[in-house]
Amino acid sequence: MQVKEQIEQLRSELHRHNYNYYVLNAPEISDREFDEMMHRLQELETAHPEFADPNSPTQRVGSDLNQEFTQVVHKYPMLSLSNTYNKEEVADFYERVRSGLEGEPFEICCEMKYDGLSISLIYEHGRLVRAVTRGDGVQGDDVTQNVRTIRCIPLQLTDGGEYPDEFEIRGEILMPWKSFEALNEERESREEPLFANPRNAASGTLKSKNSSVVAERKLDAFLYYLLGEQLPFDGHFENLEAARKWGFKISEGMKKARTLQEIYDFIDYWDTERKNLPVATDGIVLKVNSLRQQRTLGYTAKSPRWAIAYKFQAERACTRLNEITFQVGRTGAVTPVANMDPVQLAGTVVKRATLHNADVMKQLDLHIGDMVYVEKGGEIIPKIVGVNLEERQFMPGPEAKFITHCPECGARLVRYEGEAAWYCPNETACPPQIKGRIEHFISRKAMNIDSLGPETIDDYYRRGLIHNVADLYDIEIQQINGGDGSREKSARKIVRSIAESCQVPFERVVFALGIRFVGEIAAKTLARNFKNIDALAAATLDDLTKVSGIGTVIAQSVIDFFGKEENRKIIERLRTKGVQMQLSEEELGEHTDLLAGKSIVISGVFSKHSRDEYKTMIEKNGGKNVGSISSKTSFILAGDNMGPAKLEKARKLGIQIMNEDDFLQLLEV
Ligand code: IVH
Repeated sequence: MQVKEQIEQLRSELHRHNYNYYVLNAPEISDREFDEMMHRLQELETAHPEFADPNSPTQRVGSDLNQEFTQVVHKYPMLSLSNTYNKEEVADFYERVRSGLEGEPFEICCEMKYDGLSISLIYEHGRLVRAVTRGDGVQGDDVTQNVRTIRCIPLQLTDGGEYPDEFEIRGEILMPWKSFEALNEERESREEPLFANPRNAASGTLKSKNSSVVAERKLDAFLYYLLGEQLPFDGHFENLEAARKWGFKISEGMKKARTLQEIYDFIDYWDTERKNLPVATDGIVLKVNSLRQQRTLGYTAKSPRWAIAYKFQAERACTRLNEITFQVGRTGAVTPVANMDPVQLAGTVVKRATLHNADVMKQLDLHIGDMVYVEKGGEIIPKIVGVNLEERQFMPGPEAKFITHCPECGARLVRYEGEAAWYCPNETACPPQIKGRIEHFISRKAMNIDSLGPETIDDYYRRGLIHNVADLYDIEIQQINGGDGSREKSARKIVRSIAESCQVPFERVVFALGIRFVGEIAAKTLARNFKNIDALAAATLDDLTKVSGIGTVIAQSVIDFFGKEENRKIIERLRTKGVQMQLSEEELGEHTDLLAGKSIVISGVFSKHSRDEYKTMIEKNGGKNVGSISSKTSFILAGDNMGPAKLEKARKLGIQIMNEDDFLQLLEV
């Protein structure tokens, strides 16, 4: 078989298996077989760049080159829907449709209202050619590269499908609850701000300049609106059913209603059933099914007359606010928490709600004793959305005020520029900060001392055994064996696992130190670049920010950390106890300074190593991999098929272009 045919066959099979897995949820082959096929295709494409195709299944992994989004004008403007909040308003809509159609019979297509961000996809001859965000409704951002990485969006429609030559399909891009929770957990461990709900997370992801980030985040998409001049049917429902056959993910829950009662039944069913869906929904959309009738009814300036959204009531309860308490975290940030009379809300009993920070608290104008409304919307943690002011008239309580001093240690709170939170600055003596830092130090991704937990840490702290992480290594069996040896076995285990943590590699020690803003990834970068704790402690702001991935916020925080004598003393004690304060010989061997100070752009398709492998090589040899060519670029590591625009730019700036072989020779590998 000709190479071209082989490539085409592999692509079409991979498109099909991708569809089976991500749209139908019914894979026919194992993950391993899928990976093997993908690998074969990758090899053929690398060897034959002349057959490259942006819609090849291999392109779903995205690229880490920075992209700029260009603005594209929508062929049909992207309108919004008018909202209704109760059944009477739905009945009004139904009546308006009936009278608009002058008594003609009609059907209403009932669908879920997905709570993500809307996208317009353009297909030509069965291939995805463009994906554009809603923007202002008239024009949006071209996010095609990012959308190509969303596995359930077909890049090539199913063979034999009778799709029109040209059409547009609109839908919603979503982050499933599961991916959202995992993403937030990961961000929390890195002390990065959390996404408030899956919609924000999906939107932040889709607008990422780096399409490989999008590929990793596991987005989903449902399509709900087909537009074009050559659609197969007059019915919207029927068109979507056809689109399902072409390979699109269409909701299974769509239904045609012939009476108002059938619409109500649909609403009632999904009001509870939606909680079992893997993605967020915030209502129901009702659409007149016939496209001809849609044209008869037409549009207002903002929205169609043939469709309406019915929004679900966010689940809300009313209860009494008894007290506001303040929690101090590991970093000293103070969070106000509302304590309320227990109340049933969305299947759980709620008695506490976070108030986030002083600004949020002030905005709500809370008084102790107020009857407050609590909601569980797209967010997982319940929040107070308002106060029942009528109730306050009878018994006004004292205004809820933010505290000025730390509830745990009494220190005066401070507010740093640009931050919403108030902080307790007493890092060295404020108990929750001390305990929080020790808990972080022993956690799985840090020193992994799993025989200890928050309760034991609390106990040892109260008994005066530990004040900082270095004290852990001084604990003796007699101090923790219950006094009479009754807990000898567990005491031995604890002391042993603390001692064993001396084997934990340096990069995790850097993470364990709990330097503000230094998460797992930054810790790794710092460890690999500075190689030992003394070099890291001596680094200047300039040395630090030169490192790829280290910005000024992290850099300043590292400097502040090592600037404190208390921290330097702890590090010295940890060093004496045998904790790793430098990269191991093995890791050191892999690192050189051959590319120190060099900014290198990777471009094109390679045959000897993958792009990621080259990236790692650059970093291990002290270089910096950057996304786009500029006058600061030292050289371009170029494979086959480097884009003409890039070549031109490199030539203009006189930047050296190096091929794979020369690069490997340079590194002497
Ligand atoms: S149809 C002209 N159907 O809701 C009608 N929209 O306010 C176009 N949405 O921007 C929209 N689920 O992002 C339609 N099943 C659904 C939907 C849906 C969610 C979103 C969409 C739109 C907004 C309307």
